[in-house]
Amino acid sequence: MDGTLVKLTFGKPTPQAQEPDLKNVYVRPVNLKSGPHFTFVYRYATRDVTKNFPPATALETARSLLGTAFCDAHLFTPLQSAQVEIDAEGKARLRQRVASQAPTPRRERHDREKRRPVPLTAGWLHRLGVTNSEGRPREGMAAKLRQIQKFAEILGSLLTDAGLLHDTNAEPGSGISQPFTVVDMGCGKGYLTFAAASMLRDRARVVGVEDRQELVTLCNEVTREEKLESLNFIQGNIATATWAEDSRCDVLIALHACNTATDDALARGIAADAQLLVVSPCCQKELRPLMRPPAILSDALRHGIFLERQAEFVTDALRAQLLEWAGYRTKVFEFVSTEHTARNVMIAAIKEHPSRQQGRLERLRGFAQFYGVPTQALARHLGVDLASGVTT
Ligand SMILES: C[S@@+](CC[C@H](N)C(=O)[O-])C[C@H]1O[C@@H](n2cnc3c(N)ncnc32)[C@H](O)[C@@H]1O
Repeated sequence: MDGTLVKLTFGKPTPQAQEPDLKNVYVRPVNLKSGPHFTFVYRYATRDVTKNFPPATALETARSLLGTAFCDAHLFTPLQSAQVEIDAEGKARLRQRVASQAPTPRRERHDREKRRPVPLTAGWLHRLGVTNSEGRPREGMAAKLRQIQKFAEILGSLLTDAGLLHDTNAEPGSGISQPFTVVDMGCGKGYLTFAAASMLRDRARVVGVEDRQELVTLCNEVTREEKLESLNFIQGNIATATWAEDSRCDVLIALHACNTATDDALARGIAADAQLLVVSPCCQKELRPLMRPPAILSDALRHGIFLERQAEFVTDALRAQLLEWAGYRTKVFEFVSTEHTARNVMIAAIKEHPSRQQGRLERLRGFAQFYGVPTQALARHLGVDLASGVTT
């Protein structure tokens, strides 16, 4: 009882137990006004009895339970767990396990919950129908809420990596070097746009671009009601929309912009010299009918599902290579688990090195030619002829 105890549980009542309806005892540390104590919850068949003991008495009580009332004691600390079992002959056996199997202390879990990038009480979550008035996910919206939180968490760390946000441990919205512009292309109902704005508060201007006017109107209404002055939504096409006077874009986001709309968005970000590009492509339909994979793959790719997945892979791998060629360091990873959405690959690109290196161009052309890909939307935007080199 050196201060590291998370919990101690007693189970498997002994045959000689004096209270046969006592099923378990659970012990946890607790801070009372009178100092540190241990709470013992005695779980009977039909009721619980709680008693608080100071450390010395708690130790004594715990000792007296093992072997007389219970055959089994399980102790958890943040670093390990230990189990003592007493067999029918009275012999004790000790088993120990390392940290990962020990439960997270309650207080730590509580702190982690408090550190959610988007507070559950955010008014926009409620107005967009994600949470109810108590800040709990509405029916069918739990996965969306997890996706929003995950996105905000990833965006925070990418902004830090890109040098736009300086202190990840600071309060969300603080520690930013200078105001910058975030543009979310094909923002839909704006879940992720609001998440970005709410995380960055007034340190960044956040713009949502969306084709469907009714969604733009809804999002702007919520923005007004919630007094999110740094956020606005505009109706327009990803390829041509303009925002403010300068159409500045330091961070380009395009999640689940179908097919080549992702390429249009990436091209806008690159043209604006954005520091960070974050896309999660979907419906990669362009290359499937164009690809002429090598004969060695023909038996495998005669199965439609394999061809579809291969086309997705080739599309996104080519995008990542084109981004590298355009001067970005890329990361490709799973954004949320496939349990929440099948559209879960994220490509993040941070402006870093000089663009247009010949070696990279040759490698990406070799890749495209291996799969018999004659052209691709982002390559066209960037003036890259996949068959024979750069056309600009
Ligand atoms: C699948 S939703 C994704 C919404 C949001 N980005 C998200 O991940 O939650 C795609 C949105 O992009 C919009 N969109 C698709 N192509 C577009 C384009 N070329 N210009 C503007 N909006 C577009 C659609 O209207 C739709 O609302």
